[in-house]
Amino acid sequence: TRTYVVTGAASGIGAATARLLAERGERVIGVDLRDADVEADLSTREGRLAAVERVAELSGGVVDGVIACAGISAPIPATISVNFFGVTEVLEGLLPALRASDAPRAAVVSSMASLQPVVPAMVEAALAGDEERALAVAAATAEQGPELGYLVYPSSKRALSRWVRRESITEAWAGAGIPLNAVAPGTVITPMTAALLDNPEGLAMVDAAVPMPLNSHQPAESIANLLIFLTSVENTHMAGQTIYDDGGADATLRGDDI
Ligand code: NAI
Repeated sequence: TRTYVVTGAASGIGAATARLLAERGERVIGVDLRDADVEADLSTREGRLAAVERVAELSGGVVDGVIACAGISAPIPATISVNFFGVTEVLEGLLPALRASDAPRAAVVSSMASLQPVVPAMVEAALAGDEERALAVAAATAEQGPELGYLVYPSSKRALSRWVRRESITEAWAGAGIPLNAVAPGTVITPMTAALLDNPEGLAMVDAAVPMPLNSHQPAESIANLLIFLTSVENTHMAGQTIYDDGGADATLRGDDI
């Protein structure tokens, strides 16, 4: 039995991942705001530290896989805190427990949105580990209205995919034998997207931004199964990738531009 930490385990992709892992007989420590083994607010540093500490206690100091799904898509500054720092600081905090495993793995959830326009200053501040500055840039952006505020989400995901790419090949990750990768979903049917997909205008907007010629909108399990492969013993050599599991959206939008 392997021990997995799944953030965002109370809903959507995280809940599907936790359920599928449990069905395979793995041990899952769920982290979420509520309805989880570890209840913590990953938008704050204190919440992240508390989560890491509680996971260390519950796991006995050995974690085989970390799957970071917790995220929000609101056009507000907190989106950079949850989606970037709520992932990277938890992963870094869990490194000692991962190093104690024989086959440690980590995977995070990025997004198709990582390819959309971003605010470069926000991405740079996040990658510099400067949450205060990232939040200030996000606040200045969001103050200009919801359309610009929306840019906080793609900025958070661009920064996350880039962080995975950079960190995966360092001493801390590759050097410790820990594959670190990201999955970028298309449009997944979860509580995050329910309201948008429920009204014709929202649906048209989503489908224009994320065209999915293969099988259209995806169930949370399609992403969960890939996250489970990435954090399985079998994944020995993938590092730093953002894998677009998106019904062909990336192939449609980027075409030959890779
Ligand atoms: P969801 O809203 O169903 O689940 C997200 C979970 O994260 C919730 O249980 C929520 O309580 C938790 N969470 C939010 N803020 C938190 C905080 N401060 N501290 C602790 N937990 C917190 O959403 P879904 O769709 O399952 O999203 C999971 C991930 O997938 C997110 O990172 C999202 O950005 C990403 N994603 C989702 C897509 C979709 O179409 N649903 C598409 C691309 C990426």
